[in-house]
Amino acid sequence: MLQKIKETAEWLKAHTALRPEMAIILGTGLGRLAEEIEVVDAIPYTAIPHFPVSTVEGHQGRLLFGRLGNKEVLAMQGRFHYYEGYSMKEVTYPERVMYELGIRVLCVSNAAGGMNPDFRIGDIMLIRDHINFFPEHPLHGPNFPTGPRFPDMSQAYDRELLALAHQVAQEKGIRVVEGVYLGTQGPTFETPSEYKMFHILGADAVGMSTVPEVIVARHCGMRVLGISIITDLGVEDKIVEVTHEDVQKAADAVQPLMADIFREVINRIN
Ligand code: HPA
Repeated sequence: MLQKIKETAEWLKAHTALRPEMAIILGTGLGRLAEEIEVVDAIPYTAIPHFPVSTVEGHQGRLLFGRLGNKEVLAMQGRFHYYEGYSMKEVTYPERVMYELGIRVLCVSNAAGGMNPDFRIGDIMLIRDHINFFPEHPLHGPNFPTGPRFPDMSQAYDRELLALAHQVAQEKGIRVVEGVYLGTQGPTFETPSEYKMFHILGADAVGMSTVPEVIVARHCGMRVLGISIITDLGVEDKIVEVTHEDVQKAADAVQPLMADIFREVINRIN
């Protein structure tokens, strides 16, 4: 596995002259941030040795090397979801490769269902913490030399980056909320009782991604900033039927604001 990761990283280094230290994962319906990136090299996942291939609608499946603001960035346009049938090792393969490439800051985004009664559709939630509800752990198996066998998770999401994101949002007059993201396997959206259970467990939003990637990124010592776009509500009496199209549409509307926050945070990181 480690050998494959190194091979993928070496291949990528041979296919781009850029050496970014920051990466962005663009979630469902959030791929348009890519348009803000001055792209130098766009590499389809299908071309990358040992890379899994994304299948879900709304994900183009490309790795973008480019510039955003004053930084070189690597962007994942489309991610690998557990519900697609990938193993956790495959889901988090890109983060392992990112580390090999020299990425030290990871900005992740996703679409999520809001369970906090104060949330509204279209809200931007800065992720303070997560709950891992996946049935398989991304670090299951022999330990990788990037981090300890029993990694600390007391600060999965970097407090400085979180504060910076709040500051940027305030300066730009963007309404943001903060909360706990619960990652679950999907592909079903939640029943009303499941939304209620997840809220009782301490989560403000629920989605089908992010947690595995963040765990592996932290195991590699990366600093993480996470943003959820609230695309539907799992709040009692406000629950309506939800489709993937609804999720994409709601995410689409807020994309520019999320892009604003990511761009400016990335600009200010030194
Ligand atoms: N549940 C799980 N995943 C999601 C949701 C949801 O309500 N909305 C967007 N992704």
